[in-house]
Amino acid sequence: MTERKRDHVDIVLGQEVRPKHNHWDDIRLLHQALPEIDLDEIDTRVSLFGAELAAPLIISSMTGGFSDAVRINDRLAAGAAKVGVGMGVGSQRPVLQGQVGEESWTVVTQHDVPLTIANIGAPQLIPQGTKPALAPEDAKRALAMVDGDILAIHLNYTQEIVQPEGDRRARGVLEALQAVAAEVPVLAKETGAGVSREAALQLKDAGVRGIDIGGLGGTSFSAVEYYRAKSEGMSLKERLGETFWEWGIPSPISLRLCQVGLPLVATGGLRNGLDLARAVALGASAGGMASQMLRAAERSAEAVVEELQAVVAELKAVMFLTGCGDVSQLQATRTLLTGPTAEWAHALGMEEG
Ligand SMILES: Cc1cc2nc3c(=O)[nH]c(=O)nc-3n(C[C@H](O)[C@H](O)[C@H](O)COP(=O)(O)O)c2cc1C
Repeated sequence: MTERKRDHVDIVLGQEVRPKHNHWDDIRLLHQALPEIDLDEIDTRVSLFGAELAAPLIISSMTGGFSDAVRINDRLAAGAAKVGVGMGVGSQRPVLQGQVGEESWTVVTQHDVPLTIANIGAPQLIPQGTKPALAPEDAKRALAMVDGDILAIHLNYTQEIVQPEGDRRARGVLEALQAVAAEVPVLAKETGAGVSREAALQLKDAGVRGIDIGGLGGTSFSAVEYYRAKSEGMSLKERLGETFWEWGIPSPISLRLCQVGLPLVATGGLRNGLDLARAVALGASAGGMASQMLRAAERSAEAVVEELQAVVAELKAVMFLTGCGDVSQLQATRTLLTGPTAEWAHALGMEEG
């Protein structure tokens, strides 16, 4: 298990694991030649899940459970605290199941991160073969371990199908998720294949507080598992990884589909503050960035701070150039959908706006 977590980090840092097309490139914002606002006046602050953030940005859930993960999470948390943005930790399943110690997760509590997101997987909420299910008590433990504000429950069935040791049972998962959501605040989170409107409505009914749409466009776990299977000589898994490399709903489309009256986090393929602005303009309450922040954390805590500050500076620049004084104005600014994303929108009968 912990080897798997280390493999994921190494593969994401060393290989190309993204789809060919990044759908954020298809989202255009309209330049305002007369912004009628001073750059210094622009306010990027937001409140999300009860926390006050300096900008609508979250370092997405990534890792925990092996020795290097202490260093990675320490650097990410230091950066999030310094810049005033949110941070998720990687799946806490290994520690909840007693396979590893807590240190690589509890390390985040040493920093003053304004919004901390705990993490477990939906597939683990139901029994898988001889493996027992995690209970609502485990969810409480996961939150307490990182002094978390909300618990992300990740929906990663594409990865479970492709990875050699995946959990394949999904019957009863919504009910199990609902039981957890009755006890603790839950953020439902996809990990790269996006959330449909039907799923968003079901999740809302189940009582989640928000949805991280985790769409297609960034890190593809099919790609990550393809490389793992390849190195282990597992030909069927390698083939599945390759076939499902580009599976899913593009992030901007999922963001539009999931507008069901809950706060939305847009994760999947964000590269900079322009992509973040595009996500906010399409209705996100915040954007999430994973692999990009991992690359910075690999260098140093200072590199994480620099990367976050650069993203916020870019966001501010877009707000200036579109004449938006605060995040709610950016959420109301006009977006144009072009290219493959416009084709998706058209095929789904969605209106532009
Ligand atoms: C190394 C790595 C490990 C990850 N582990 C988790 C995890 O444990 N739980 C989770 O919800 N998402 C996990 N993710 C998914 C990310 O949170 C995010 O949804 C995905 O990487 C897309 O964002 P990106 O395109 O900015 O990388 C992981 C991502 C990476 C790169």
